[in-house]
Amino acid sequence: MYLADEKRYDKINYRRCGKSGLKLPEISLGLWHNFGGVDTFENFRAILRTAFDQGVTHFDLANNYGPPPGSAEENFGVLLKKDFLPYRDELIISSKAGYLMWPGPYGEWGSRKYLIASCDQSLKRTGLEYFDIFYSHRPDPETPLEETMGALDTLVRQGKALYVGLSNYDAEQTRAALAILKDLGTPCLIHQPKYSMLVRDPEEGLLDVLEENGVGCIPFSPLAQGLLTDKYLHGIPDDSRAGKVTGFLQKDRVTPEIITQVAALNEIAKERGQSLAQMALSWLLKDPRITTVLIGASRVSQLLDSLKAVENQNFDEAELRGIEAVLAL
Ligand SMILES: NC(=O)c1ccc[n+]([C@@H]2O[C@H](COP(=O)([O-])OP(=O)(O)OC[C@H]3O[C@@H](n4cnc5c(N)ncnc54)[C@H](OP(=O)(O)O)[C@@H]3O)[C@@H](O)[C@H]2O)c1
Repeated sequence: MYLADEKRYDKINYRRCGKSGLKLPEISLGLWHNFGGVDTFENFRAILRTAFDQGVTHFDLANNYGPPPGSAEENFGVLLKKDFLPYRDELIISSKAGYLMWPGPYGEWGSRKYLIASCDQSLKRTGLEYFDIFYSHRPDPETPLEETMGALDTLVRQGKALYVGLSNYDAEQTRAALAILKDLGTPCLIHQPKYSMLVRDPEEGLLDVLEENGVGCIPFSPLAQGLLTDKYLHGIPDDSRAGKVTGFLQKDRVTPEIITQVAALNEIAKERGQSLAQMALSWLLKDPRITTVLIGASRVSQLLDSLKAVENQNFDEAELRGIEAVLAL
């Protein structure tokens, strides 16, 4: 039987999510990779237990996580039953709908039909009674924003979600969606954008919109799927995301140009007494507009390494200038 570490709440800081009443750990764990039907049960069980033992209370899912799609939610459901049911009220569990999940016109994007049916499926797969956060996973260019936001509002009113979030919406789409949600009486809790040292689009307006509206921010792929670690410095390991056939990171993303940047960043990290993964995470956390960073991990040792990022979130001017110079290469 799993008994969580009694000291778990002394190990990590919790930040308020925008202007809401909800606090999230500075590091959250995503189940996009490494928790699917192709992965090893004992490995992902150990990752999830370690995360919670370290005070990580937030786990992020989506309907399509696997592979195969849906299997990460199913596996999470098994772990919930075996290990985490006594701790349900200590957990913030999110899911999303937006990408292709089933055939036909109602299996993806942002219609009311798809969002509500998908949330019902995700609740069944996980065995949860409700999600703490339910997201529209991507904007839909064809469905009126009022319909997509109305579906999120309905899920809250039906008791299937406590809060709602947006993911992959740009600054202007976000501004419009936040206004609709506010009018409906279901304010948006959080936004989940792709954001890392290598992908900086949220700095171009999105972070300002979130701050103005009191909405939290949870950057996904903060390690650029593993590129912002030292693992690709000497080639592509077979057991890495770029090396595996089931990994979303394409081998051709590991370019000599990126590796030159990563090697230089690795030197700056060493001078700070951090691993590159830790520096990449603390570089995001230095911004108070960031609520939590949403990492992935394929093994316990990575999770423990990344969690140490919270110990050093201060950067001096010279370090920041050095990092900017490398990123401008
Ligand atoms: N909303 C969206 O559209 C969206 C899209 C993508 C992801 N997400 C969410 O964000 C979560 C995180 O995304 P991500 O997995 O791409 O995040 P990430 O943290 O950028 O990358 C995680 C990968 O980096 C490697 N890694 C992690 N820590 C390491 C360390 N300390 N040292 C060396 N390597 C390390 C591992 O890859 P190896 O396999 O190579 O070991 C790990 O699987 C997902 O699980 C999901 O919840 C959301």
